[in-house]
Amino acid sequence: MSLAAAFKVKKAFGGKFLQKPRLYYSPGRINLIGEHIDYNDGFVMPAAIDKGIYYAIALNDSDDINFYSTNFDETLSIKTSGVERMDGWKNYVLGVLNEFQLLHFPVNGFNCVFGGNIPIGAGISSSAALEGGLAYGLNELNNYQLNRKELALLCQRAEHNFPRVMCGIMDQYASIMGKKDHVILLDCRSITHEYVPLHLPGYKIVLINSRVHHSLASSEYNRRRNECEEGMMIMREEMNVQSFRDVTKAEDLLTVKDKMSYEVYERCLYVVEEIKRTKDAANFLKENNLNAFGKLMFKTHEGLSNLYQVSCRELDFLVDKAAKNKNVVGARLMGGGFGGCTINVVQEGGKAEFLSKILADYKDEFNIDAEVYEVTVVDGTHEMIDVD
Ligand code: GLA
Repeated sequence: MSLAAAFKVKKAFGGKFLQKPRLYYSPGRINLIGEHIDYNDGFVMPAAIDKGIYYAIALNDSDDINFYSTNFDETLSIKTSGVERMDGWKNYVLGVLNEFQLLHFPVNGFNCVFGGNIPIGAGISSSAALEGGLAYGLNELNNYQLNRKELALLCQRAEHNFPRVMCGIMDQYASIMGKKDHVILLDCRSITHEYVPLHLPGYKIVLINSRVHHSLASSEYNRRRNECEEGMMIMREEMNVQSFRDVTKAEDLLTVKDKMSYEVYERCLYVVEEIKRTKDAANFLKENNLNAFGKLMFKTHEGLSNLYQVSCRELDFLVDKAAKNKNVVGARLMGGGFGGCTINVVQEGGKAEFLSKILADYKDEFNIDAEVYEVTVVDGTHEMIDVD
């Protein structure tokens, strides 16, 4: 985590409001494998990381709500009765307030400053971090007594209803439920999880931010979701299955191939394959078989690029270069796609050489300076005390 970012938020709060706030950390997330299947009854393997958002919040005994974002240097002031949709970051925080109000929790006035060290639109889930930190803080300050899982679900609904991205549960769950040095093996059908220790002696998880973000990302995301629903409806009628989870062999999809458009078939094929891959990957991780795990990461990328079609030239380039480097055991695009980061599992000894080469090649090809983040796996949303 970045104590400097935490200080900055606390200091900015002190400069604006004459109160002592509570300080919370709300992490972004990585996802080792299981992409675009959280909204398809699949399994995912995310973890909370040391890039996230810090929130300083204090109730103010009035019906005024004041936000200040240190990263955007923007403010938002509304009355507690004036919660409605807006744009940009405002939609994420207002979306959370709206969900509390829909549950008939009294949203009391408060002052709030937030900011952090998480890149936006990079597939590391700055949006879930934004939602989760506020939801967690207000839940504590107002003593609403929602548990962590309820908060994650509330934040997911907030994202559906205000920014109108029909996301799955992975990001909000990972951010709020994360556990230091563990990945969360999350069953997205039952919404239950198991923590799996993340021991990678001799290896590092490295994110490479392509620094491209395609504006179609959220509309295409919703489109994928609709295509999967369409496919599932046909499968329910024709195959006697209730969920993607019930299709145990990808070949079984051939029986419905001519009942759906080719695109829908490809999406369904990807989902069925990725659910199986993630189950296999979980076993490999538990057995510490990192090579086998890494091969599945490459396969996931192939599926995301060819069948699910959420990659782009820049991400394909980065994964292709990683695949050709003997120090990389696995790599793939991470998160929703259409830009953002790749996640790479790299041998520590060869890391420097790999990174300097791939950054130079990427610059040559696209004239963009990609960014590298080495991430640490941390606990989910929590209060920070003694930051002075
Ligand atoms: C975004 C969504 C998640 C998930 C990923 C893709 O991050 O918020 O719910 O669907 O994309 O795996």
